[in-house]
Amino acid sequence: MELDKTKTKKNKLTLEFVKNGKQSLSKINQLTPSEIVEELDKYIIGQKNAKKSVAIALRNRWRRQSVMDNLREEIMPNNIIMIGPTGVGKTEIARRISKLANAPFLKIEASKFTEVGYVGRDVESMVREITDLAVNMVKTEKLKNVQIKAEANAIERILDILLPPVKKKTEIIGEDIIPVDDSEKQTDTRNKLREQLLEGKLDSRTIELDLSMDNTPMLQVLGPVGMDEMGLNLSELFGNMMPKKSKKRKLTVAEAKKVLTQDEANKLIDMDNVTKESIDKVQNSGIIFIDEIDKIAGRQSGSSNPDVSREGVQRDLLPIVEGSTVITKYGPVKTDHILFIASGAFHVSKPSDLIPELQGRFPIRVELDSLGFEEFYQILTKPENALIKQYTALLKTEGVELEFSTDSIKEIAKIAAEVNENVENIGARRLHTILSNLLEDILFEVPDKTKKKKIEITKEMVTERLSSIVKNRDLSRYIL
Ligand SMILES: Nc1ncnc2c1ncn2[C@@H]1O[C@H](COP(=O)(O)OP(=O)(O)OP(=O)(O)O)[C@@H](O)[C@H]1O
Ligand SMILES: [Mg+2]
Repeated sequence: MELDKTKTKKNKLTLEFVKNGKQSLSKINQLTPSEIVEELDKYIIGQKNAKKSVAIALRNRWRRQSVMDNLREEIMPNNIIMIGPTGVGKTEIARRISKLANAPFLKIEASKFTEVGYVGRDVESMVREITDLAVNMVKTEKLKNVQIKAEANAIERILDILLPPVKKKTEIIGEDIIPVDDSEKQTDTRNKLREQLLEGKLDSRTIELDLSMDNTPMLQVLGPVGMDEMGLNLSELFGNMMPKKSKKRKLTVAEAKKVLTQDEANKLIDMDNVTKESIDKVQNSGIIFIDEIDKIAGRQSGSSNPDVSREGVQRDLLPIVEGSTVITKYGPVKTDHILFIASGAFHVSKPSDLIPELQGRFPIRVELDSLGFEEFYQILTKPENALIKQYTALLKTEGVELEFSTDSIKEIAKIAAEVNENVENIGARRLHTILSNLLEDILFEVPDKTKKKKIEITKEMVTERLSSIVKNRDLSRYIL
């Protein structure tokens, strides 16, 4: 009996250990859906459904990675389309998950593909952009890993400059030429110098560095336009074949440490590996957020109608969302498992105005709620970046303590809801306009026009300053 007990206890301990170890691995990949929602809750009020869908989609990326090979290929990401009025947190959700996702994350505006002058702009470029991002991400991580070694190498290179290796000395004794072994003395000096270098004692000395520079930037001009669009550029293709030009530069030791560390770090990482890993990351965990997708909706045709190009963009999007291979300068990238999240206000157009093929590729639709008094009150106070916290922090830098009474915040929320209802619903953005209007004088008068160290915002102040504007529709249309 006793034995059994200890055994289970031990098992439990191992389990706990495994759990903890997993958690410390990498942050988001391990966040559970409810933890993701919790993170989002810190910044975004309400919008439960949207948060939930996004959290599930993110977690599914990670779940899929552990599924058996043959089945894994079959599991397609559940692309999401978020629909909701303006200013209710669609873009904000995207911004927050980009920080959480620990995966290549690209946010683009669909409308940029229809801009004048960009008509027919290559939609595939989004895949190239996200690959660039991934390469940067992976490279930065690898560079961090070799930092210590790179620093050590850099120090040795500086030592070589400060104390050039001396040719072997000889001494003539009688008829014999005998090499003099002073290597010990040299090592000794070198060690002493190294110590001083590491302590930063030589930082202000100047030394001359031989830096090899790429000798090929001119070639890019000659590259045909199409090549550039493909994300290729000639100097990168031929760069390694060209002779490197070396250039001498005078630097302080402190600067040289930095320059050489970077140079050494670049030598220490294997770019082929970085590329491979990055492409893998994009293909399996990349997330592309297509904002303002409603701006490319609309199907009426007509030769001079801008909608034609909108539909064109939708058609171009199809293969990318569905899965195709895009050539990037790092190699082909398959888009089958990239997660796409689209969002749009859909005031004018409806999701059903998107071409049916595209609609079908975003199987999950979530609607965001429009915001009212209750949400506004929370948005003003709860999020870590709440507006009131922002203004308070701003004024604190001037030594002024800004304080809002609960009543005053309620009044602001109430006015925001009112104006949204009567004039135009711009969601939480209304809070920005109202607060900046309310605080304008204070922000102007601090620090020299007023000597107050503490300013309290009361309900009366809010009403006094804003009620006349709110009552006058025309006025609020322009001011708030
Ligand atoms: N639910 C919310 N919680 C907290 N802040 C919010 C919320 N909704 C909007 N905001 C704030 O309002 C501002 C605008 O929100 P956001 O950019 O997400 O709007 P949107 O839904 O993308 O609108 P649009 O359709 O016009 O692009 C942001 O500063 C954001 O912080
Ligand atoms: Mg937006």
